[in-house]
Amino acid sequence: MGNPIDRGTLDTLMDAGRAAVEFNSPMSTARADSIVESIAGRTYSVASPTMVDFGCGRGRLIQKVVERSPGGRGLGLDTDETSLAAARHDAATTGLAERVNFQAVDASAWKGVCDVAICVGSSHIFGGPAEMFKSLAAQQPEVAVVGLEMWEAEPTAWCLEQFGEMAPGIDSLGEQARAAGWQVEAQSTSSLAEWDGFEETWIGGVRSLGTDVAVGFASERYEAYQRYRGVLGFGWLTLVR
Ligand SMILES: C[S@@+](CC[C@H](N)C(=O)[O-])C[C@H]1O[C@@H](n2cnc3c(N)ncnc32)[C@H](O)[C@@H]1O
Repeated sequence: MGNPIDRGTLDTLMDAGRAAVEFNSPMSTARADSIVESIAGRTYSVASPTMVDFGCGRGRLIQKVVERSPGGRGLGLDTDETSLAAARHDAATTGLAERVNFQAVDASAWKGVCDVAICVGSSHIFGGPAEMFKSLAAQQPEVAVVGLEMWEAEPTAWCLEQFGEMAPGIDSLGEQARAAGWQVEAQSTSSLAEWDGFEETWIGGVRSLGTDVAVGFASERYEAYQRYRGVLGFGWLTLVR
């Protein structure tokens, strides 16, 4: 490990990683397209469904969903102003700003109703997977699409220390969702190719800053990734009520 990195520098490094990836999670373009179709190709009980992305980051997924849902209206919730500024800029550029709104709020405290709930890589907002499933169910959406970390393989002591306790696979996540009243319509896990693409792009974004600190930080992340590659997994669930 190198010297400790101060908060401001760390924010700059993390921003560079986030800015390099389209989604801040191991999600390929093909998976994003399939999620969009699974939401946009559905019939809703209202003509203009409200679609909310809890912890939307740069808001790419909610914008893609709304773009393919002519009657839909989107809301992205996040606490990170840098990500939200990028999301608003994108929406203005693509002409979606009238139909997709981004709010800087603690998504766990959001009070509203929605017809579609999305939560990708953001279950920690609610305090973990079980709480996320319960909180999303309380919003009574007609469908929810969630993506979250889990163990793909038996975790090493190092992985447990780094990431803490997690669901031992996608079936376990499905059970937690059912316990909160959901039915699992579809489930899958991110492939190793999705993980590799995500990590390489994220690390490349940090390295491109070109400073010694950035290059060192990128190398540390690369080395860490070799230790959790194939062990830390990412599960996807499409949930209906
Ligand atoms: C791993 S990122 C995932 C972002 C996005 N869903 C994606 O897949 O690109 C987690 C996001 O949760 C946001 N976040 C953390 N705590 C939050 C909170 N209390 N309320 C709303 N967003 C929060 C972070 O700012 C970050 O954008």
